[in-house]
Amino acid sequence: MSTLQQEIAKRRTFGIISHPDAGKTTLTEKLLLFGGAIQKAGAVKSNKADKAATSDFMEIEKQRGISVATSVMGFEYLNTKINILDTPGHKDFAEDTYRTLTAVDSVILVVDCVKGVEEQTKKLMQVCRMRHTPVIIFINKMDREGKDPFDLLEELEKELNISTRPLSWPIGIGHSFKGVYQLNNKSLNLFSANKKHIADDLITINDLNDKKVDELVGDKMANKLREEVELIETVAEPFDRDLYLSGYLAPVFFGSAINNFGVQELLETFIKIAPSPQGRETDIRKVEPIENKFTGFIFKIHANLDPNHRDRIAFCRICSGKFQRNTFYQHNRLNKKLKFASPTSFMADSKSLVEEAFPGDVVGLYDSGNFKIGDTLTEGEALQFVGIPSFSPEIFKELENTDPMKTKQLEKGIHQLSDEGVAQLFIQNPGNRKIIGTVGELQFEVIQFRLKNEYGASCIFRHMNTSKAMWVSATSSEELEKFTQRYHQKTAYDKENKPVFLAGSQFDIDYAIKQFPEISFHETSEWELLEK
Ligand code: G4P
Repeated sequence: MSTLQQEIAKRRTFGIISHPDAGKTTLTEKLLLFGGAIQKAGAVKSNKADKAATSDFMEIEKQRGISVATSVMGFEYLNTKINILDTPGHKDFAEDTYRTLTAVDSVILVVDCVKGVEEQTKKLMQVCRMRHTPVIIFINKMDREGKDPFDLLEELEKELNISTRPLSWPIGIGHSFKGVYQLNNKSLNLFSANKKHIADDLITINDLNDKKVDELVGDKMANKLREEVELIETVAEPFDRDLYLSGYLAPVFFGSAINNFGVQELLETFIKIAPSPQGRETDIRKVEPIENKFTGFIFKIHANLDPNHRDRIAFCRICSGKFQRNTFYQHNRLNKKLKFASPTSFMADSKSLVEEAFPGDVVGLYDSGNFKIGDTLTEGEALQFVGIPSFSPEIFKELENTDPMKTKQLEKGIHQLSDEGVAQLFIQNPGNRKIIGTVGELQFEVIQFRLKNEYGASCIFRHMNTSKAMWVSATSSEELEKFTQRYHQKTAYDKENKPVFLAGSQFDIDYAIKQFPEISFHETSEWELLEK
């Protein structure tokens, strides 16, 4: 095996996703503890911004600042290089999370056993399903009185539109939680609430009918476990890794992250079954990680709010070949050669200089304004990674310039902020009317503050009667023009100049579909790729 092949084979790059409060931060931290990447709990700051009031956006930005440090957490475990890509928990930053999901090869979804499937869980899973991302589900907080595990599985299948296959099974729940039985290696893992120890005590049993089980968990529990395991093994198909890898089947684990329970088997199974770095589509061909030449793309940009340190950090996912420090690479959109003197990797509360990186790795590149989300770096080949779609924002407002002397600054600022992915910008002509679309109110405050603070420009936002953006297309340009003329007040153009229908309501959309049967309406900007 070549070095490159070996480096690819040993990497697993994934994201942990959840509805806020399900335990994403806690699980991340426990995984880092196992990997020896941190020494004690508490080193990973929770995105407690989740709990802050919307008006407190500086606090949230500060938290985001902290979360730069935890953007990518790499560690080695059992000879595997694990890269965890952090995703913001706050709903208003959901777009950041969607984009981060374009840079992972698989995800672990954390579900709270008391709450079951929640709103954000559904949205995040929709994005995973669209990209056929392999998903492992970790049902957390089994030390609490939660829902019945069979009901939970049914809920997951129904709400998330995915098949499930438990690989571990809980023995009791809440006060009576005794542990889990691991279906694949027939071992019992008994629970003792323990926030300090990081290893589970495994008791291997060859047969569930062994009297030892009764002694360990009590007759009643032991019999219940036998019945349930029998039911699973008769009803459920054996675990099929290919179905998991193609995104149709989610293996399920039960545990309690805060008590370090069930985390080790999750991690060890993850290493065995999760995919190593995968190929990625570009506008001209699919790039495979094993290709010798380096390619990568920017999926996240983090601005520094401190006016004295204006630089930004662009996060680049390596897709193929080997990335090297101080080497010239081609920035395809700008047709410019760039080299990076201090590419960085981030780890909990430390960061370090990267000399070289391999497919699946993420490097932070200091940037003075060259990058926007989706930008591609190569050794010269003119290709562009695709599949970083925009979704319809949920809130739309018209941006009004309140300081005509600073028009240029406002123009520059709002374009740069939208390149960074703070919000989506739609332009309506004639008049260069700017419409800002976001998933949360918070972004409007962020934009107003940053325009003032970084560009000296002032603006206000006006309410709009728009609730959804749909990208539109037609087989002929005449048809499309007929539509955009009829709906000129409701048509705007996105950053790539793609036409977008700004609908007031679902009724609006249904009516337009009826009126213009030859027009196709799409939920995302990259419909060509995703609807293939
Ligand atoms: P998030 O990143 O998904 O938002 O969740 P986070 O890990 O911050 O966990 C949310 C809350 O749930 C935390 O409590 C955390 O301690 C708790 N938690 C996580 N795992 C478990 C578990 O297995 N069992 C139980 N019972 N609780 C769990 P908090 O009170 O909000 O914060 P903290 O003061 O404990 O940090």
